[in-house]
Amino acid sequence: MSTPPRQKRLTPANVTALKGERPIVSLTAYTTPTARIFDRHCDLLLVGDSLGMVLYGLETTVGVTVEMMIAHGQAVMRGVSRACVVVDLPFGSYQESREQAFRTAARIMKETGCDAVKLEGGAEMADTIAFLTDRGVPVLAHVGLMPQQVNTHGGYRSQGHDTVEADKIRNDAAAVARAGAFAMVIEGTVEPLAREITAALSVPTIGIGASPACDGQILVSDDMLGLFNDFKPRFVKHYAELAVTIDQAVESYAAEVKARAFPGPEHTFQVRPKKA
Ligand code: KIV
Repeated sequence: MSTPPRQKRLTPANVTALKGERPIVSLTAYTTPTARIFDRHCDLLLVGDSLGMVLYGLETTVGVTVEMMIAHGQAVMRGVSRACVVVDLPFGSYQESREQAFRTAARIMKETGCDAVKLEGGAEMADTIAFLTDRGVPVLAHVGLMPQQVNTHGGYRSQGHDTVEADKIRNDAAAVARAGAFAMVIEGTVEPLAREITAALSVPTIGIGASPACDGQILVSDDMLGLFNDFKPRFVKHYAELAVTIDQAVESYAAEVKARAFPGPEHTFQVRPKKA
């Protein structure tokens, strides 16, 4: 008897090859049940360090640890059979040296089974990206707005408004592409610049707040599902209002419990008559 062949997940190389073919569909994922649902529709799932804010209530992503990324990376991998899975390298786990970056990336890949890692940074990280890709670690780069640098940048401001900023992002994107990144996230960047970078490079750009001019889009899933409402970035469309749905469900539940109108016999164990 032969078992049916296991469905293969998309590889980073498959994602690169989508450039010019069709837009890349991508979301963040943090848990097994949501990954199962997203997997049916997405090419790439990112276990983003945004989990620090949307799941753990941290104010920024700076406090996220490698252990948190591994736990959620493992959870997502349990729910996925098709999408390419990328896990973020958290703040402080890769910036010190290319060797530190390799150690962290190798640990995350071994312990989760993910396909690639993502790191934030432009020209200053090009050497690290080349070091990782030369040693078997596919890298998704991340340029433009870099949330891990919130403390030096003083907030989450969109990027590329003046020529100095635009030149830096243009230069960063070219540097990470040359270094071997299989794709790059461009975050919070003005449309003309995102369009220009997308046209100039053979590596796909996946935008978040960087316009439909990119080769694909990624959103923080809790944002687009209306689950994380601490703040709403201007570019995020809510495709559902899950926070409202959950609030209404819990309100109904609480009202029933308070009225002792607990769920009926179909949800209750009854004493079974003893067999004679
Ligand atoms: O951590 C994250 O969710 C990300 C996306 C914003 C791209 O890096």
